[in-house]
Amino acid sequence: MAGIFLKSLILNHFRSYKKETLNFSSIGTVFTGPNGSGKTNILEAISLFSPGRGLRKSKNYENSRKPENYGWKIQGTFEGLEEVYELEVSFQESGDKKTSLDGKKTTQSKMNDLVKILWITPQMDRLWTSGALERRNFIDRITYGFYPNHGKFLLYYEKLVRERNELFRLGNYEKSWMDSLEVQIVNYGIEIFRNRSDTIQTLNKSAKVQENFPKPKLEILGENFINKDTYLMKLRDNRNLDNFSGRTSVGPHKSDLNLIYIDKGIDAKDCSTGEQKALLVSIILSMSREIVKLFGVPPILLLDEIGAHLDHERRNELILQLFALKAQFFITATDQSFFKYDYDDLNYVEILNKGGNSYIK
Ligand SMILES: Nc1ncnc2c1ncn2[C@@H]1O[C@H](COP(=O)(O)OP(=O)(O)OP(=O)(O)O)[C@@H](O)[C@H]1O
Ligand SMILES: [Mg+2]
Repeated sequence: MAGIFLKSLILNHFRSYKKETLNFSSIGTVFTGPNGSGKTNILEAISLFSPGRGLRKSKNYENSRKPENYGWKIQGTFEGLEEVYELEVSFQESGDKKTSLDGKKTTQSKMNDLVKILWITPQMDRLWTSGALERRNFIDRITYGFYPNHGKFLLYYEKLVRERNELFRLGNYEKSWMDSLEVQIVNYGIEIFRNRSDTIQTLNKSAKVQENFPKPKLEILGENFINKDTYLMKLRDNRNLDNFSGRTSVGPHKSDLNLIYIDKGIDAKDCSTGEQKALLVSIILSMSREIVKLFGVPPILLLDEIGAHLDHERRNELILQLFALKAQFFITATDQSFFKYDYDDLNYVEILNKGGNSYIK
């Protein structure tokens, strides 16, 4: 098995699971079961082995099993090329989220060095019709996969922009303070612009070799500064305007993202639901290929209800491409027939729920 592989997962008081152990031996796992049985909860738990708030973007306390509210713990045994790693993520009601590697405290970024996890969720079906913030989050998450500093730059940048806006609110600020803030904003802002644009170029290039799925082309909309001086000048020129609105009117926090189905020349928002899903699949496959090139190992893929809008041929094609990537993947499906293919490396796990407690059949 190439790369890193989740061998077992223990869920402790996590959402609908009181205590459950799952063992994985195949490269692909399909979780089946009725609505509300607990399929997505498993994918969410796995997603928490990556930095951030997981695929539902939940607050830590929301994951605590109700009504007990004891907090929760997720343990994963990962098999790498030569080693086995024990990752644990836990949360207690009175504290913060904790992460540990082989029993020792670790950071989210170290966890990210070890295992990369990508996902597609049904919520992303609304990506192209919702607000620009959702799309920025989407591209930033992808960018973070390639540039581990990207998340940190974003946090610093956002803090500095908040400070600049606060100066406008207070009024009568010291000019030298504003000058220095704007220089720092530009230093981080330019990195964010560059990381995003490099990521998009890489993905667009990679998408050209994509077969049997629509070829996507991503593009950043809005002002995209590549020169520090021009960017700084623009910020200074806009001071009066920004003072009036109390907001910073230029920068990476104003960008938007567009996706085009190249062969048709149509924006994703005007594509059919199935086509939009297939475009997202294309992006995630490109990203996985590039991660293999960069880091030598494929990511783990979480595909929540991925079959719902894909036709039979595309579903089969997806499985074949995932096998080719050697990326461990987890799929959920209410309907078992969606992924009823006779591949040795595809395993089916049925999830049931009794009295609010999820379990493996
Ligand atoms: N904190 C919590 N404590 C207890 N139960 C929870 C908690 N959060 C969510 N649940 C329950 O977990 C159950 C399973 O949710 P999940 O989203 O995993 O279902 P699913 O199998 O993916 O269903 P669907 O097919 O509808 O997507 C739901 O019934 C939900 O009410
Ligand atoms: Mg679900």
